[in-house]
Amino acid sequence: MSVKQYIQDNQEKFLNELFDLLRIPSVSADPKFKNDVFAAADFVKESLEKAGADKVELCQTAGYPIVYGEKIIDPSLPTVLVYGHYDVQPADPYELWDSPPFEPVIKKTPRHPEGAIFARGSADDKGQFYMHVKAFEAMMAENAMPCNVKFMIEGEEEVGSANLDIFVKENKEKLKADVVVVSDTHMISLEHPSVTVGLRGLAYMEVEVTGPNRDLHSGTYGGAVANPINILCKMIASLHDENNHITIPGFYDKVEEYSKAYRDNLNKAPFDLEAYKKELDIADVHGEAGYSTIERVGIRPTLDVNGIWGGYTGEGAKTVLPSKAHAKISMRLVPNQDHREIAKLFEDHFKAIAPKSVKVKVTPHHGGAAAVVSTETPGYRAADLAIQEAFGKKAIPTREGGSIPICALFQQELGLDPILLGFGLDTDALHSPNEHYGVKNYLMGIETIALFFKHFKNELAQ
Ligand code: BES
Ligand code: MN
Ligand code: MN
Repeated sequence: MSVKQYIQDNQEKFLNELFDLLRIPSVSADPKFKNDVFAAADFVKESLEKAGADKVELCQTAGYPIVYGEKIIDPSLPTVLVYGHYDVQPADPYELWDSPPFEPVIKKTPRHPEGAIFARGSADDKGQFYMHVKAFEAMMAENAMPCNVKFMIEGEEEVGSANLDIFVKENKEKLKADVVVVSDTHMISLEHPSVTVGLRGLAYMEVEVTGPNRDLHSGTYGGAVANPINILCKMIASLHDENNHITIPGFYDKVEEYSKAYRDNLNKAPFDLEAYKKELDIADVHGEAGYSTIERVGIRPTLDVNGIWGGYTGEGAKTVLPSKAHAKISMRLVPNQDHREIAKLFEDHFKAIAPKSVKVKVTPHHGGAAAVVSTETPGYRAADLAIQEAFGKKAIPTREGGSIPICALFQQELGLDPILLGFGLDTDALHSPNEHYGVKNYLMGIETIALFFKHFKNELAQ
């Protein structure tokens, strides 16, 4: 039998096992789910053991454990390090899910005519890292492991990977490998398979604007005392100019401008603007003047309000002039923009534009660097060849807008360009209600990953 045949024969089993993992609500952001996050780590540990990994352990951290396991077939063979995360985003708001987020079901969608698995974490990242466990199982079962493998599956990606940072720095020898593979991104479609070669960085801020020392009657005081919500809205609105450029002084100083050739090439990727708008039910797109949608997401930095609150939001009306207003604001960054530097620029600017009538507090949350990886490495070539063999088409290199800050750490600390071999689609509703992952994407992903191992061995030997 072959690896491909094994995968085909075990489709049902592979799906059922993923379903069991998806039933564990491993939400790292919410302490209410603490036991479930630990349970998910145990689940991953057991699956690696069952698949045939050695030295499987839960590496304790100040937070949730990192699951490590390896199979060293022969020390002279190349070693592939697999990274993924078993934690998921909160499922809120629950009422917007068509089926409960931790009870996976398969349903058809326009982009997944053969069915998709609906559950929190199905695409981000349980369904994706689990493909590696299953590809490993298939290769082991068929006695066809072309490379050594090391798994490092963490439980704090969705909250900033603070402890993974330390773990990687302290365990360079243990994690020594020839390539690191991450399946936690998108591809354009199954018809246009792609490999991600760039991710944006992130600087996440929280602001608090305080007006009067207490909530006031908006009739008695309205018009005479600064309303912090009014002020906050005005401040936020001023962060973009009429061309949708960000107005923070120095924000663009380190942003790389790309050549026409580079941009033309990026824009050659298949992208259907009409379908994009239709799927989102928007009459038009919106963004920085002078750039296409692909460029706005892939190579340009952005600023978005992620949440804003204050005042009265309950039933009916309450005439109040609130004391405080709050917002969470994040900036997506491109290579060379340092998230700490950007956080400082933001803070200085935000304080500078506040009128004297209010006080402003700015608190930075987690951040991370962007990462761009080369297409001229054995790892990228192996990914391309694996895709060619599985899909019958060359992989299109794409730059994505999301962030996996740990990728820059792999480059810095391990000297490795991560191969971002993701199989989700941008419409899979990551972090949203009704997150899903195509059944075919899952199964093709398992097959492609096994092929990657085969091609990586050859490419490295060249
Ligand atoms: N898997 C995503 C990142 C991603 C999604 C990359 C889609 C490319 C395409 C990851 O789990 C994630 O959500 N990252 C966060 C940042 C993190 C520091 C919380 C993000 O991008 O918001
Ligand atoms: Mn992810
Ligand atoms: Mn995520």
